Amino acid sequence: MRSRTKDGTLPRAGRGGAATAEGAARAELTRLANGQLATQVLATGARLGVMDLIGDDTRTAEQVARALGTDPGATLRLLRALAALGALTETAPAAFALTEMGAQLRTDLPESLHSVFRLVTNPGLVRHWERLDEGIRTGGATFAATYGTDIFTYLRDRPDLSAEYNAAMGGGSRAVAADVAAHYDFGRFATVVDMGGGDGTLLSGVLRAHPGVRGVLCDTADGLAQARDRMADAGLAGRCALEPGDFFAAAPSGGDLYVLKSVLHDWDDEQCGVILRNIRRAVPDDGRLLVVETVLPSTVPPDADEVPYLVDVNMLLTYGGRERTRAEYEALCRGAGFGITSVTPLPAPDPYALIEAAPVGPAPSGPAPSGPEPSGPATADPASDA
Ligand SMILES: C[S@@+](CC[C@H](N)C(=O)[O-])C[C@H]1O[C@@H](n2cnc3c(N)ncnc32)[C@H](O)[C@@H]1O
Repeated sequence: MRSRTKDGTLPRAGRGGAATAEGAARAELTRLANGQLATQVLATGARLGVMDLIGDDTRTAEQVARALGTDPGATLRLLRALAALGALTETAPAAFALTEMGAQLRTDLPESLHSVFRLVTNPGLVRHWERLDEGIRTGGATFAATYGTDIFTYLRDRPDLSAEYNAAMGGGSRAVAADVAAHYDFGRFATVVDMGGGDGTLLSGVLRAHPGVRGVLCDTADGLAQARDRMADAGLAGRCALEPGDFFAAAPSGGDLYVLKSVLHDWDDEQCGVILRNIRRAVPDDGRLLVVETVLPSTVPPDADEVPYLVDVNMLLTYGGRERTRAEYEALCRGAGFGITSVTPLPAPDPYALIEAAPVGPAPSGPAPSGPEPSGPATADPASDA
């Protein structure tokens, strides 16, 4: 919870009731110092199934401990920490119900952030954060140095982790899919190609909202591993083709709209140029590119949401990518033969903007480059992404 005021100063009375600006500053720093603990407590509650167990009822700590087979005293302490974080309310001594926030960590809600919390606390995917100093010193991703390979190769060799990654990406996208579908006129296109579309969560939202549109979902074979079931469950198997491939090698032809959501921020400018030029080769002159990303302001406003800036550091460390400003997206698009036609921010709390671009000038000639090896860069994109 933010406690800075509009002008960036801290309120005189902080959450802990501090009477002075110094006291409020210390209270805020103390809260942030314990941020990792808060993440772990929320993730453990979700992983153990506390939120699923409580559901729409009220449960005592003893009931929860019995059902989960956990230590009763430790369980009460976990539930109280979850209540202090706002995920539960203690309705009577040692009895707990879910708040709206806690409900968002159930597994049975379509927009649940359960899998995001699992991913961002997965010990197999967070150790490179211990080398943040090194990343800042060198300006490079520390994922490969820590795990011996880039994130997507690492995931390819670990199907369970890859499924968890895909679920977390889908969980993050599910919450925005309806807004994306509502704030862009997909209906004027015959075929929408979602590049790096993962498990198809975004594309299925678009196809459900626009029954006349056909979809093509492109990703690596691992990225698509859960997509067939998801599309079938959504009743969209007949309207959506799955196309395994490498966006550094080529984009499939036949689309009128090419979508890239949470893809460009995984890569550096040179790699983005390869992906975009491959799309430029495939898109017809009257077709469009739609980039769905957070667009950073050119300077940090006093009331800035910290999440995009934290995600930006994660992009550096995990993928070698970055969050970008509008000017930076314009430069990327220009370099690949696209001109931006509109930038539409989605309504809060969605952090994304819809950046539409149209082909400008001739498509790049010659064969598609095979593209840089996705060497160092790459990983989990937690709350938008780990
Ligand atoms: C951060 S995820 C975004 C997924 C999805 N667009 C979303 O927003 O939920 C990046 C996606 O890019 C895919 N990807 C990575 N390298 C790729 C490549 N060389 N070719 C195609 N897809 C790739 C990953 O498998 C993953 O699904």
